[in-house]
Amino acid sequence: MYHFDRAQYDERMQWFLHDRFGMFIHFGLYSIPARGEWLRSTEEMPEEQYLPFFDEFNPTGFDARDWARRAKQAGVRYAVLTAKHHDGFCLYDTATTDFKSTNTPFGRDIVAEYLEAFRAEGIRVGLYYSLIDWHHPDFPQYGDRQAPLRHDPVAGCNDDRVFDRYLDYMHAQVRELCENYGKIDLMWFDFSYDDMRGEKWRATELVDMVRTLQPGIVINNRIEVSGEGFGSLAACDPTPYHGDFVTPEKIVPPRGLFDAEGRRLAWESCVTMNDNWGYCATDLNYKPAPLIVHKLVECVSKGGNMILNVGPDGRGRFPEQSCAILEEIGRWMQLNGESICGCGPVEGGPIDPEKPDYGRITRSGNTYYFHLYEGSIGPVPLLGVPKDRIRSIRRVADGTEVLLSNDWTHSDYPDIAFANLGPSPVLPDPVDTVIAVTVD
Ligand code: GLC
Repeated sequence: MYHFDRAQYDERMQWFLHDRFGMFIHFGLYSIPARGEWLRSTEEMPEEQYLPFFDEFNPTGFDARDWARRAKQAGVRYAVLTAKHHDGFCLYDTATTDFKSTNTPFGRDIVAEYLEAFRAEGIRVGLYYSLIDWHHPDFPQYGDRQAPLRHDPVAGCNDDRVFDRYLDYMHAQVRELCENYGKIDLMWFDFSYDDMRGEKWRATELVDMVRTLQPGIVINNRIEVSGEGFGSLAACDPTPYHGDFVTPEKIVPPRGLFDAEGRRLAWESCVTMNDNWGYCATDLNYKPAPLIVHKLVECVSKGGNMILNVGPDGRGRFPEQSCAILEEIGRWMQLNGESICGCGPVEGGPIDPEKPDYGRITRSGNTYYFHLYEGSIGPVPLLGVPKDRIRSIRRVADGTEVLLSNDWTHSDYPDIAFANLGPSPVLPDPVDTVIAVTVD
């Protein structure tokens, strides 16, 4: 019977729940055709059409230090890079296959360079590893839900495919990543579906190995589920391979996430900047930076994290649209990051303010960060904040003191504290003006 040690769990989750804001990086051979990371599946592409990208792969613009600098400037606290995606291409010098970046014209270990550069910027490092592998000869194809050869009974014939041989390979690769690259803070497995979940992956053996080699590592829930489903920790029936956090994809859970006994769950919304994880040259549906900031605030106010994706192009560079968005997010984060990192929902604090209709609240200890997305007519109401409990109010961006208003205009509401942001009807920060209300 598996014993779930909640104290040990809470200990290892501390940094994750503190840091709140991550960067996902999806990079690989698919960055060259630039039609997203699923193109082998969506186009049912035989491998012989894909392998020329291996022979060509030489991202001369790749500079992990540039990636790391941009992540740092954006206020990102942890990062996750694809070590291997569904296409089976390995971005690291694995001994298990020749289908790796060090065997391409590029000849370099991208994972190693990423880890060194992001650690140097003080950013925690994670690796994404696909349980699915459309390159390996023992991974099922014909009749699978999404494999490239799922409709081809000849090329995709599974008669000679020995899944256990694939599992030996997959486990050996995960072992390499855990043994050969120093401390890894987060393992982002992807993903389970149909009967391909849990012990089908030999999950207990795999997770035991990862946790033995990387004590304290945080592991997501996709060895059990995918972006659909929550996992065994949510069911209060943790398996030996339970994920440590839930991974809602391209959505912010409307009410946050709670386990079957009502405890808040750790979760991380994984979000693309446009619609694709891997670089897609024609996908210009980039989200405006202000929207991403508001969604990051929403995640934190509901007890979650956000990991924001960048899909470098075939030259290894962050797309210019992504750079611009990161810079704008970074401008806000450099001034207001204390209202994100180290923060969470209001519950559990000394007072119980209401979510304002002009924005949201995040909390750290006895400091409540009111995020103002729209201006008020007159002073700003702080519903649920007892006046006599207020120790200070400060504008987070520049530390300016904010006084409580005693204007006659709100004399009919003596029980409500109103903050005086000054005479201008325009908020200092059009994206999100944050005031920190500290209470006794
Ligand atoms: C989904 C996609 C995969 C992507 C992952 C990121 O699982 O299939 O391509 O890497 O989401 O969350």
